[in-house]
Amino acid sequence: MKHLLVSGGCGFIGSNFVRHVLEYTDLSVTVLDKLTYAGRRENLHGLENHPRLEVVVGDIGNQELVNHLVARSGIDTIVNFAAETHVDQSILGPLVFTDTNVRGTHVLLEVAREHGLRFHHISTDEVYGHIPDGHQSVESDPLAPRSPYSASKAAADQLVQAYVITYGLAATITRGANNVGPYQFPEKAVPLFSTNALLGLPLPVYGDGLQMRDYAHVLDHCTGILTVLERGVTGEVYNVGTGREMTNLEMVDIVLETLGASRDLVRHVTDRPGHDRRYSMNVDKLRALGWEPRYDPRQAVAEAARWYAENRWWWEPIRAGNFQEYYARQYGKRLGNEAPESTQ
Ligand code: NAD
Ligand code: TYD
Repeated sequence: MKHLLVSGGCGFIGSNFVRHVLEYTDLSVTVLDKLTYAGRRENLHGLENHPRLEVVVGDIGNQELVNHLVARSGIDTIVNFAAETHVDQSILGPLVFTDTNVRGTHVLLEVAREHGLRFHHISTDEVYGHIPDGHQSVESDPLAPRSPYSASKAAADQLVQAYVITYGLAATITRGANNVGPYQFPEKAVPLFSTNALLGLPLPVYGDGLQMRDYAHVLDHCTGILTVLERGVTGEVYNVGTGREMTNLEMVDIVLETLGASRDLVRHVTDRPGHDRRYSMNVDKLRALGWEPRYDPRQAVAEAARWYAENRWWWEPIRAGNFQEYYARQYGKRLGNEAPESTQ
């Protein structure tokens, strides 16, 4: 492994991964990113002239472009972060999720097959669906996605596994828990709540706020992916998280406490349709490769909230731009009529 094609490297996790790889390995990186609303060049700020980094703007669904990138350089591995990633956006406009997450991944698999590349796919705990109390998802559990986002991610996982079986592709998958940390687009809960608290705006908690998530630090996800690239068994899937979950209300309390903001900002609003109550993963399989998470979930959420307090330069222009249209569409009615209503 010498040269990675990192698709989606200008997004939240991809950009943290690129920084990590350039700092701690000798690998070269070509980023391929479409720069959707969630992909931002400034996520890679400071790396503009890095001798081992190249950034190409383009779509993973463009087979000619991906073929060209692989053919003209020494790329030997594709790491696929590129995706549409927000559940609420997938409820408002689902088709682009199929275009990128399913067809786009399929195009990358075709290129990997043609050129004999190693392939690593970034998936999510959401493919397991809602997990009842007392169970933690293991990698062999059936997939039971319940939103257009998670269904598109599950479809991609199954394509990757089909390529392993049918063509012997050297592929692995990691399924990450809810990541938090620097450069996460403020549509997601922790950056939305942090930036709202910093702006003195209400925090729209869906339903009763007792849904459970494993809030994992993005750097632990990055080291987990690198561990699988270096020591994972091809054909295998690895869960990546802390293995411990908390309720959204607990997460909100950590954000408010870290930022010194008042609990009066919390508003219980109309729930997300089909909202998964609980995700929880067992991460022993990755631990067996020698990986350990460094952050516990409370620390991860607090550090993320602090980052937004200290990096207004990054999120203020986002919040002042097109994001306002999305915010009005997603929250206008919800915050106007504040009666909680659950759809579980
Ligand atoms: P993000 O939305 O911040 O970034 C996605 C990136 O992909 C953006 O830079 C975007 O421009 C790019 N992209 C989108 N469509 C593209 C296309 N057609 N061609 C090329 N680039 C395209 O997402 P993220 O949170 O960094 O998530 C990265 C990956 O990790 C995704 O596959 C996601 O499903 C997975 N994941 C995310 C989380 C999480 O908590 N954020 C958890 C588990 C797994
Ligand atoms: P999110 O960051 O969207 O991740 P996911 O839905 O993929 O888990 O949401 C995390 C949790 O926070 C989830 O249970 C939904 C909830 N949530 C709210 O209560 N209010 C919000 O405005 C958002 C965006 C999320």
